[in-house]
Amino acid sequence: MSKAKLSYDGNEIELDIFEGTEGERAIDITKLRGETGLVTIDSGYGNTGACTSAITFLDGEKGILKYRGIPIEQLAENSNFAEVSYLLINGKLPSETELENFRNEIKDHSDIPKELANMIKLFPKSTHPMGVISSLVCALSGFHPELAKENLSPEEMDKAIYTLLGQIKTMTAAYYRTINGQDIVAPSKKYFCQDFLTMMFEEPDPEVSDALDKLFILHADHEQNCSTSTVRMVGSSHANVFATISAGIDALWGPLHGGANQAVIEMLDEIQADGGDYKKFLEKAKDKEDPFRLMGFGHRVYKNFDPRAKIIKKACDTILSKLGVEDPVLDIAKGLEKEALEDKYFVDRKLYPNVDFYSGIIYRALGIPTDFFTVMFVLGRLPGWIAQWKEMREDPKSRICRPRQIYVGETNSEFVDIKKR
Ligand code: SDX
Repeated sequence: MSKAKLSYDGNEIELDIFEGTEGERAIDITKLRGETGLVTIDSGYGNTGACTSAITFLDGEKGILKYRGIPIEQLAENSNFAEVSYLLINGKLPSETELENFRNEIKDHSDIPKELANMIKLFPKSTHPMGVISSLVCALSGFHPELAKENLSPEEMDKAIYTLLGQIKTMTAAYYRTINGQDIVAPSKKYFCQDFLTMMFEEPDPEVSDALDKLFILHADHEQNCSTSTVRMVGSSHANVFATISAGIDALWGPLHGGANQAVIEMLDEIQADGGDYKKFLEKAKDKEDPFRLMGFGHRVYKNFDPRAKIIKKACDTILSKLGVEDPVLDIAKGLEKEALEDKYFVDRKLYPNVDFYSGIIYRALGIPTDFFTVMFVLGRLPGWIAQWKEMREDPKSRICRPRQIYVGETNSEFVDIKKR
């Protein structure tokens, strides 16, 4: 194993350099504080590996994304969301029988408890769907106490996985219909996307179901992003799996993360309402005095095209023409992208369209309401969160996550009675 040398205060230590199967290399600092009294600091963890993982590999410089070693382009072209979910969670592509059983288990675990359906009716209708789904997922620990334990047997782990994959789509559709004054539609016992769309809109167009299935494949995992890191952080305390996934949903909600897909459409609609002059908005995004950011652009890891954005952009044209949908914001998005990719500010900072830039245009064409876009990201990312949580809990070396800090506050303060302050 190659070594790194660290010199400090006239001392020197050697640290192992760990190399992964795709050639990524990391300095192992496990013994750093014990041997030197030093810790590292890395705001936003841009240079810090939190774990090793065998689930997803991405190369931000080359725009490469692979699930269990299979390029995302091959999976988007040839696979389906249930098969990709199985691949991420179990580490291999399923046989026909294994896939059939996996799909049937999800179907058989798709009914939500009637008390949970009643809870849905109690939320103020203005509640953002992400707040409802996060609350209900955590509440599943009350409806399935036998699956909300610290340690689950393999059978209980499987049942918890089927419950999450089955019920989150059902509760999403149930909330959508409740706030629209419609009766809740029970699970249709069809496969994932068809079932979800049937519960949302009754009879879905097969084209719509196929488009959603492809989008879910593209969102299924993305190594240690903010919400997945949250799932690992919360799961590392051995909190139950429902609380752990609920925490991931909350992290994804932020507009800098999964919430960007809603923010992109709102931004494009704003540009259209303002007369479509996207160049003006590009200048706003570059103006440091202006809080406006070009939503759907930039990425912590991708300093090249996000491979998912390429696939989604291509799918946009196909799906909208198949559905006979004309959305003027698609041309605005394409114009904005072209302009930004030729603009020094964006080129110098390696800011490219990310997964969220075009996805909202498709969701809107499929009839999904804007404030449900980020819940679509939840449904897509769910197998990835589950796979990462399972990998972490099954790792015998896994410990509770507890980063250090460097204190920069007051040092010699004293208590002062309130009457003297
Ligand atoms: C997702 O991590 C993942 O894998 C996430 C994800 C997944 O699948 O899980 O891929 C999904 O969350 C995609 C990202 C969705 N978010 C957005 O589209 C929101 C808009 N993008 C940005 O806010 C930003 O690009 C982030 C949050 C995505 C990344 O932020 P970083 O890595 O902290 O980058 P930064 O803020 O330090 O920006 C570096 C520079 C800064 O300018 P300078 O200080 O160098 O002059 O680039 C600028 C930033 O101001 N910049 C932008 C910008 N993004 C970065 N300027 C204008 N518009 C933007 N969108």
